[in-house]
Amino acid sequence: MDGEERGRPAGLSRRRFLVAVGIGAIGTATLGATFFGSAEEQDSAVPTDQWLFGRYTAGCTAVEFTDAGLTPVTVPHCVTPLSWQGWQPPSWESLWVYRQYFDSTPALRRGRAFLTFDGVLSAASVYLNDKLLGTHEGGYLPFEFELTGKLNPQSNVLAVVVDGRWNQDVPPDLTTFAKPSAIDFYQPAGMYRATAVTTTPKAYVSDVFASPVDVLTPDRALGVRATVDSAGAVNSPVRLQVSVSQAGMMLAEESIEVTGLTNGANTIELSVNGLAGVALWDVDNPQLCDVAAGLWIDGKQVHEYALRIGFRDAKFTADGFFLNGRRLKLFGLNRHQWYPYVGGAMPERMQRADAVLLKNELNCNMVRCSHYPQSTAFLDACDELGLLVWEEVPGWDYIGDSVWQQRVVEDVRGMVTRDRNHPSIIVWGTRINETLGQADLYDRTDQLAMELDGSRPTTGAVKGILGYQSPLYGQPKAPDSHPGVTDAAEETGTGTAATGAESGTGTATGAENGAGNGNDTATGAGNGSESASVSAGPSVFAFNDYSRPQGGAAELAPLRPPRPEVAYLVSEAVGTLVGPPTYRRTDSVAVQAEQAMLHASVHDQAAGDDRYCGLLGWCAFDYPSGWYHSADGVKYPGVADIFRIPKLGAAFYQSQADPSRRIVIEPGFYWDFGPGMPRNGPGRRSVIWSNCDRIDVFLDNKKLATLKPDRSLFPHLDHPPFLVNLSLPPTRRPELRLDGYLAGNLVQSRRFSPDRSQDVLSCTADDRVLAADGVDTTRIVVRVLDRYGAPRPYVDGAVQLAVSGPGTLIGDNPLDLAAAGGAAAVWVRTQRGQRGPITVVASHPIVGTDGAQVTAQ
Ligand code: GAL
Repeated sequence: MDGEERGRPAGLSRRRFLVAVGIGAIGTATLGATFFGSAEEQDSAVPTDQWLFGRYTAGCTAVEFTDAGLTPVTVPHCVTPLSWQGWQPPSWESLWVYRQYFDSTPALRRGRAFLTFDGVLSAASVYLNDKLLGTHEGGYLPFEFELTGKLNPQSNVLAVVVDGRWNQDVPPDLTTFAKPSAIDFYQPAGMYRATAVTTTPKAYVSDVFASPVDVLTPDRALGVRATVDSAGAVNSPVRLQVSVSQAGMMLAEESIEVTGLTNGANTIELSVNGLAGVALWDVDNPQLCDVAAGLWIDGKQVHEYALRIGFRDAKFTADGFFLNGRRLKLFGLNRHQWYPYVGGAMPERMQRADAVLLKNELNCNMVRCSHYPQSTAFLDACDELGLLVWEEVPGWDYIGDSVWQQRVVEDVRGMVTRDRNHPSIIVWGTRINETLGQADLYDRTDQLAMELDGSRPTTGAVKGILGYQSPLYGQPKAPDSHPGVTDAAEETGTGTAATGAESGTGTATGAENGAGNGNDTATGAGNGSESASVSAGPSVFAFNDYSRPQGGAAELAPLRPPRPEVAYLVSEAVGTLVGPPTYRRTDSVAVQAEQAMLHASVHDQAAGDDRYCGLLGWCAFDYPSGWYHSADGVKYPGVADIFRIPKLGAAFYQSQADPSRRIVIEPGFYWDFGPGMPRNGPGRRSVIWSNCDRIDVFLDNKKLATLKPDRSLFPHLDHPPFLVNLSLPPTRRPELRLDGYLAGNLVQSRRFSPDRSQDVLSCTADDRVLAADGVDTTRIVVRVLDRYGAPRPYVDGAVQLAVSGPGTLIGDNPLDLAAAGGAAAVWVRTQRGQRGPITVVASHPIVGTDGAQVTAQ
């Protein structure tokens, strides 16, 4: 196994990181020679995504263990094959082992080497040559071990024992009810995020926090706090040089000299000024900046750390949310990370696809990562797309004992440190979802988030009348300063090197967490700059509003009014309000149609009152669960299903698109007269979701009606729906045509066929080209459609799949299309080093055959 050069921030993909590293040798006698390997060494790397895997047995960490019983697997990996429903927790609740063998290349031996894990559910014990490197508990954040000095020249054996069992006193697990169905989402075990071996020089930049300050003024600057980790004291001059560029243009550069380094972690701070020309990051125009932090020792560059940031000003206030000084209504959904067949183990491309779907298809400007830190590939995509993020610590409706609570605090540290450079993240969830009280714990978590970041407010969702009436969250503690920006308050900080920022020289100290930077999250009085004596506390009041519809009109789900004097965000709404186990594609059309109406209703109310910062519906995707309102291991509150295929409930979100970007006409019903459908058609109050300003409705090409958006129903939506009477006598089965107009011009015409005999099977791939690296994966969607491409939910039978070429099928075969409501998906993964076309052919006994092709290259 060879190593990748380190310098990759958590938020940059490995590929991009590889081109971002620096060059050179460390010039000090104590620290030794060059560390970068030759090109051949890089090429001969044993990939850390290929492992041997099996059940844990006694002795399986030993060097001489015979692994004949183990199977080659690819990481990301789930310990058990799954379907899209019917998950059985005992299938992953066990001990497992992953093994790997490698020779130590010169590149690995020269400098320092690290083994990193982006996420293992739920606990891991890591052995090198049968010696324990360490253990890690908790499934949602990265961890690492240093391998330096521990490698044999040849035949090293890595063995990772993964504990997939419940009740490990690890959040979000509940210690009192020791079973996975005790919380709302299943968490199948495995090495489900990437692993890597990285190499560094003996002194290297291990972390950079680059925090934009005074963003809305021409004096905007970048406060930089770098951690330099040194394996030994350095007495020669050390320089940190930071450059900021945008779209390939260098904007500013600054450097600072310190007189040496101590053994271990050293904090070096500086401020980069002269950034008046930077383009701001915004939801519509997410302009990113590249930051490079180069480490120079004795006049030679030894390392470079690259990261990406964005300059934006985000404020939650009692009068709404403001981005870059402009009021913005937060409009979004909650996201769980679980997929069919593999649990959380989907590689980068698919993580990113979720963000694309949320932003471009469902028109969200915000997502909540419920209820744990999610993949950095997902967050990278949010940065690139302009999708705002709430990220929160693992947990769900439960607080454990002091050991458990200490892990929550460490999770806050891990989450904020990993992700604080993402411009998309605008609030930290430092409180466990739907918990009350816990003042001591939450003082600690809020205070820690403030120390590590300080530029973002904190929050935690509460629910029910007690949550709504709970004492107002406290005010944020006054920040000491921006990192790297010297001011009077900084003297009381925790001993940073930044006092030298003005003169350009200084002394590095071992202090890890310097002063937090400015916080301006107004909750009435709490805007940070006044007094250092106010207690820590979250500054966004987040409420999971599941208020039930009163009386008959179910589509009008009421929202509680915003609490006065506090930044108020609705963090969840709708869910499965109407009853279990909605909303499946096999449920009645009336039930399915209601989902869009409920989501529209709560967003309409949030849009109608400036005091709501916004609303995040529950939720984007169906997810595996054995909890309340689940059916056969799946919960169905998603507006898209677990395959990420939009349901009728998504039509409201789809229709809120800016028509200059995309025209949408989505009926809130199916044009189908088969089994399971009402005999008189979609009915008298049929809803059409669209961003047109007029829709003409035709039956068999005869005009039935000219419609205008119904503002009386949802007065505050950008694009209210259209209502039409489509009640038909049982003898009449016409074709439906919807013509959409904007300012008098026909912009889209859609047809819907009543004739099931002409239905087709559709099989499509999300991507045309994949990397032949054995990891890259794309989704293959299989659907029954009418002859014009509209969905048919109530179908019989299963689909048989055949894959040819260098691809591996991830998914059920046959695929039960009837159970899934006429739409489902499988995934195809490439095979390492195998190039060429991959073809997937899907066949259904009634509606025929279709195929999709992808090229692995
Ligand atoms: C909320 C909870 C979510 C989910 C939802 C019901 O109370 O925060 O995680 O369980 O209920 O679907």
